[in-house]
Amino acid sequence: MARELSLAEIFQLGYYWETKILLTAVQLDVFSSLAGKPRLSAEIATRITADEQALRLLLNALVAMRLLTKTGEAYENSSTAEKHLVRQSPQFIGHLLQLHDAEWNNWGKLAETIRSGERSVDRHVFETDPELGGNVLAVLHRIGQQSGPDFARRLQLKGALRMLDLGGGAGTNAIAFCQVYPTITATVFDLAPTLRLTEKTVKEAGLDSRISLLAGNFNHDRLGGPYDLALMSDILHYQDFATNAALVKKVYDHLLPNGRLLIKDRFLDESSTGPAWTTAFAVHILINTQRGACYQTSDAMQWMQAAGFASVEEVERTAVVQGLKLNG
Ligand SMILES: C[S@@+](CC[C@H](N)C(=O)[O-])C[C@H]1O[C@@H](n2cnc3c(N)ncnc32)[C@H](O)[C@@H]1O
Repeated sequence: MARELSLAEIFQLGYYWETKILLTAVQLDVFSSLAGKPRLSAEIATRITADEQALRLLLNALVAMRLLTKTGEAYENSSTAEKHLVRQSPQFIGHLLQLHDAEWNNWGKLAETIRSGERSVDRHVFETDPELGGNVLAVLHRIGQQSGPDFARRLQLKGALRMLDLGGGAGTNAIAFCQVYPTITATVFDLAPTLRLTEKTVKEAGLDSRISLLAGNFNHDRLGGPYDLALMSDILHYQDFATNAALVKKVYDHLLPNGRLLIKDRFLDESSTGPAWTTAFAVHILINTQRGACYQTSDAMQWMQAAGFASVEEVERTAVVQGLKLNG
């Protein structure tokens, strides 16, 4: 039984001022304006075109939040801010925070959405702002370098497999699978604007001879192949139940006999009250997609069984479901 929240913790949950101060500082590029050297508030105001008096309040709060330091009247980035919040840094993660900020107004409509059940968003970020979507994928690709190879290793695959990474984004999984298994070749299928990033990541990984890119809309276009292995990782929560069922069937048709489909997603457990992060993610998906949802693994298993897959099972709890296409 989980411990009850204290009153102090309830107050803390309802407190978002620091969140918005950080997101705004990233939006205004405060940290980049301080790259490499301390500056006075007047200099920062000139660099980012801001009102000095108002800016000083933001800077002081950022000092209290330990993202900046202040010596006399000069402000300086903390070492973490310098590494991760300065735009020119190779380890910049600000794009992810920019996405949260871009979704701020959608969160403002949460009460309205809960009351009416009506969504106010008609497309997801990869369609509305492919540049931001690509930048976010690049950050996730960089910070998720370890999880892809670990996932690939756990599957203990064998043989010279042709893999489809559907909605493969930055190619994080295709790259990881090719690195772990030297006999795999892969196709990353994604929207054309997203593949501009994939081309770079695949080249950087030295895998352009084993990973090909195929542009299109996976609901409408042919997927190439046939393949021995298909992965659908973090794509189905953007779509409704029936569209997912149809897409799983389409993937079945693009697999060879003995082919395997892996669906990896943020699934809710049987009670829909866990994992905790996913319950909040489900609300995020409600207000930031037109028809998306967080599903349970039993939903994914239903799509697979209806498509004709056999030996359908949850191979990693609330994370990965697998099915096999038998001979014939
Ligand atoms: C959250 S990302 C997941 C990326 C990757 N599979 C991973 O797990 O890291 C969702 C991806 O689906 C792609 N996508 C969304 N809708 C699509 C569609 N209709 N056709 C093709 N790709 C799509 C997006 O461009 C994006 O790369």
